[in-house]
Amino acid sequence: AAPCDIYASGNTPCIAAHSTTRALYSAYTGALYQVKRGSDNTTINVAPKSAGGVANAAAQDTFCSGTTCLITIVYDQSGRENHLTQAPPGGFNGPESNGYDNLAGAIGAPVTLNGQKAYGVFISPGTGYRNNKVSGSATGDAAEGMYAVLDGTHYNGACCFDYGNAETNNLDTGDGHMEAIYYGDNTVWGSGAGSGPWIMADLENGLFSGLGATQNTGDPSITYRFVTAVIKGGPGNWAIRGGNGASGALSTYYSGARPSGSGYNPMHKEGAIILGIGGDNSNGAQGTFYEGVMTTGYPTDATENSVQADIVAAKYATTSLVSGPTYTVGGSVSFKATTAGYTDRYLAHTGATVNTQVVSSSSSTALKQAASWTIHTGLGNSGCYSFESKDTAGSYIRHYNFGLQVAANDGSKAFKEDATFCPQSGLTGSGSSLRAWGYPTRWVRHYANNGYIASNGGVHDFDAAASFNNDATWATSTGLA
Ligand code: AHR
Ligand code: AHR
Ligand code: AHR
Repeated sequence: AAPCDIYASGNTPCIAAHSTTRALYSAYTGALYQVKRGSDNTTINVAPKSAGGVANAAAQDTFCSGTTCLITIVYDQSGRENHLTQAPPGGFNGPESNGYDNLAGAIGAPVTLNGQKAYGVFISPGTGYRNNKVSGSATGDAAEGMYAVLDGTHYNGACCFDYGNAETNNLDTGDGHMEAIYYGDNTVWGSGAGSGPWIMADLENGLFSGLGATQNTGDPSITYRFVTAVIKGGPGNWAIRGGNGASGALSTYYSGARPSGSGYNPMHKEGAIILGIGGDNSNGAQGTFYEGVMTTGYPTDATENSVQADIVAAKYATTSLVSGPTYTVGGSVSFKATTAGYTDRYLAHTGATVNTQVVSSSSSTALKQAASWTIHTGLGNSGCYSFESKDTAGSYIRHYNFGLQVAANDGSKAFKEDATFCPQSGLTGSGSSLRAWGYPTRWVRHYANNGYIASNGGVHDFDAAASFNNDATWATSTGLA
């Protein structure tokens, strides 16, 4: 039995089931998610390879070959059509036109399930999904349960990487108007033991790690690569549970009374569903979602324990984050532009600014060094790479406000992530294209001879669709100096 079959036999059926990796009912054969490609803005649905099975990632790979792809819809498998789509503006605007949030890149979170490739939803800051017209979700003080399988290594401290029940108008309408899984190391409201990240409950105007509104040391820091996160709430009581999504059982981190603050007992749930954002469309957070459901009724621990056993049996595992030309750690590399008219230029830097400059065999050693990079294991993810300046030891290519800079490694998590790039087979069909680890929709691109991480057809001038594939494809060679 699959997760929603298990919840149904526990008399707490799923009212929404979302996953880009697999069917959450053993009989489900319908669409899991929709992707849209940049080359012609057409879409396809990706379905399981067999009833109850793993997503047909190969269909996505074929459709997206030689272009970029976004996840436009995460379908609801429950039959209630509670699909998740691009989140609209609310208390906070998103980065897209008209204040919408970004959509997730389709290749940011590759994994395998029982050896078969699938893709999760990699939420970068600014990205979010929502449904404000949900059929069957808990409202008011009614009971519900939810779980999500997440990447325990992908998080930050911004508000709020959530999956669950939220406001129907995208605004903060007060305490108790949400009940969602939160994952990250935000300490503005509550926190758990250690330095995080933690599973907490976003109940609106507060991330709760237990009974009290601040720290509850019963809620542990999580170190698993795959995390099963569980929140459930009913009249007068609620719980946080969690575990390793790849092995073992769930633990209960909190189970008991509602917070004492007014508004939280009874609750005022509104019944929308959010993914990757806070209730008011706060969109600074990051995280990765593989699968999750919302139920009606308060699931028993036994039901959730069976769901966890099924998640473990799905055998989530990591897989390669890169493709195309090989990068050898300790070696050096230069990146030559492939756009017609610019092929005498290399990715280089002038002080802190990353640009392209004309370099030839007769150029000075200084210029050749400015266009040469030492290859390191990715500072922010060991499956990808970081590029240290040949002439400025200890400084690396990083993005900042989507511009590329050469900057000293300050040791921060943000620096390391911003300095990590995951090379893919070149978008033009040869060479190498470098996607930013933390922004899978964004690729190292030259525009007006400066370096950016650009999204194909996005809102900035440097995101221009014209010439995108060429500007974002580099011919690699051993470093010029
Ligand atoms: O409860 C934490 C956050 O506070 C909510 O997600 C958001 O709506 C508000 O800003
Ligand atoms: O480049 C995008 C973001 O801009 C970086 O991740 C962040 O460090 C900066 O605010
Ligand atoms: O970076 C040089 C050119 O500037 C790019 O090829 C083009 O997209 C932009 O106009």
